Amino acid sequence: MSRTALVTGGSRGIGAAISKALKAQGYNVAATYAGNDEAAAAFTEETGIKTYKWDVANYESSKEGIAQVEADLGPIDVVVANAGITRDAPFHKMSPEQWQQVVDTNLTGVFNTVHPIWPGMRERKFGRVIVISSVNGQKGQFAQVNYAATKAGDIGIVRSLAQEGARAGITANAVCPGYIGTDMVMAVPEKVRESIIAQIPAGRLGEPEEIARCVVFLASDDAGFINGSTISANGAQFFG
Ligand code: CAA
Repeated sequence: MSRTALVTGGSRGIGAAISKALKAQGYNVAATYAGNDEAAAAFTEETGIKTYKWDVANYESSKEGIAQVEADLGPIDVVVANAGITRDAPFHKMSPEQWQQVVDTNLTGVFNTVHPIWPGMRERKFGRVIVISSVNGQKGQFAQVNYAATKAGDIGIVRSLAQEGARAGITANAVCPGYIGTDMVMAVPEKVRESIIAQIPAGRLGEPEEIARCVVFLASDDAGFINGSTISANGAQFFG
């Protein structure tokens, strides 16, 4: 029987590539999105992957949404906590709101996504938790005190979950993408982006599919002994 996978932020960017790659491997995939109805409808039209709208920053919405996905597709075996936002500003200009929004979505959002699914994984003695962190959680980044803190936090989450889930057949791992050619990176001013690319030994941005392939591997039975790890895919920009 095919396994069921949930990908948050799964209709755009890296998340869309992950949703598609998991579907291609035979998973029943549900993709969540927060606000862009048009992009989600186009994604479903293109891929046949069902999308669900909720805000990962809200625990009750996440819990209800996850219950709906499980009613529609069956128990979730693989959860990919991918949804994330940036609110970049140098620290002296960063507002408490910019801090809080990023923490609520990128960090609390991971708790809200995995927590309702975790008891079922424990009961069924199988689960794959994959959190999309970032090279900037490993190395820090100018204008990203908020984002880097949450992405470093993701690594703490998976290392802890790994220890709790290991005996229940659950693995928890992080993928740390470098700069990937998505809307998020394209929103960085062109000059800044060019200077970032100049610091990537590969000499280019990564492709969403290059991250999706890491996720597919971590979700597989072959990756069962990889637990609490971090896969870095950043074109040799940083060794974390
Ligand atoms: N390192 C050092 N200095 C930097 C810098 C950097 N990476 N980026 C900007 N600066 C400097 C500028 O040169 C400028 O210096 P001067 O004052 O001497 O001219 C100063 O910092 C910027 O000051 P501003 O007051 O103009 O800054 P601002 O309020 O307009 O903010 C910014 C601009 C938001 C920092 C903008 O430069 C920016 O977006 N930078 C990119 C940040 C970044 O890399 N974000 C990653 C997004 S992609 C992502 O997050 C995905 C992932 O996981 C990899």
